[in-house]
Amino acid sequence: MEMKAQLADFQLLTATPLTPAIGAEISGVDLSQPVSDALFEEIHRALMEYQVIFFRDQDIVIEQQKSLARRFGALHSHPAAPAHDGDAEVMMIRGDEKSKVVAGNFWHSDVSCEEEPPMGTLLHLHQVPPSGGDTLFASMYAAFEALSAPMQSFLSGLSARHGSEHVYRGRYGVKEDPAREYPTAVHPVVRTHPETGRKGLYVNPTFTVKIEELKSRESEALLRMLYDHMAQPEFQCRFRWKKHSLAFWDNRCTQHFAMWDYYPQVRHGLRVTVKGGRPF
Ligand code: SIN
Repeated sequence: MEMKAQLADFQLLTATPLTPAIGAEISGVDLSQPVSDALFEEIHRALMEYQVIFFRDQDIVIEQQKSLARRFGALHSHPAAPAHDGDAEVMMIRGDEKSKVVAGNFWHSDVSCEEEPPMGTLLHLHQVPPSGGDTLFASMYAAFEALSAPMQSFLSGLSARHGSEHVYRGRYGVKEDPAREYPTAVHPVVRTHPETGRKGLYVNPTFTVKIEELKSRESEALLRMLYDHMAQPEFQCRFRWKKHSLAFWDNRCTQHFAMWDYYPQVRHGLRVTVKGGRPF
């Protein structure tokens, strides 16, 4: 299904694109109020078109964030991060003067190491640093569409292993069983979005470990080329957070990079993730 033709006629919200490739700021929506079916349909359509959407000044509690997320599907629990306040469906995102690492400080699509990675993620920030702490988003549709036809065709026959032990082991400061197993999965290098039908690149430097059909050196060289290609600024937008901004990104067609340039300042918020299907 091609979404572009249906667009531009939102009745209940205004969508202001950030760049031609990706991202739109949504205004006219108060997420502390119940989201009607008609408004949900427009938010969904905006997400499909812009791949990541941003809401400002949303003074909402976690139950309201979760209830918007649930309109898109069942909630996902992170395979390694600790539950927030005993709730495995909520992940705290925090950087401060004690942090040794922060989540997402590298290009990635969330938890792509799982067999069925999350479709989307909603992040609401409660505290932001005076400057910095932006998140960069890149359109994997734009990255795929900019490749030559022979390269698109070559990549379309390949699959890649995504792993997570190298990312998650020891990261959360809890004592871990050395025998603990971490998610790993094989996905197509070019993924078809199940709702828009568009194709996008689906390898990322955080979780992807090897292209299955290639020799190690070939895989390393091809992945290096793809990561370099994907990181071109024209495929991106960059979001400057304010207190109570909420971002909702579609992991099936985007990657993001949370910039940790604000140490020792505090950046704090809560993340909720919606389950997704097996990539094809
Ligand atoms: C993440 O990858 O979920 C973190 C994103 C962010 O902090 O902006």
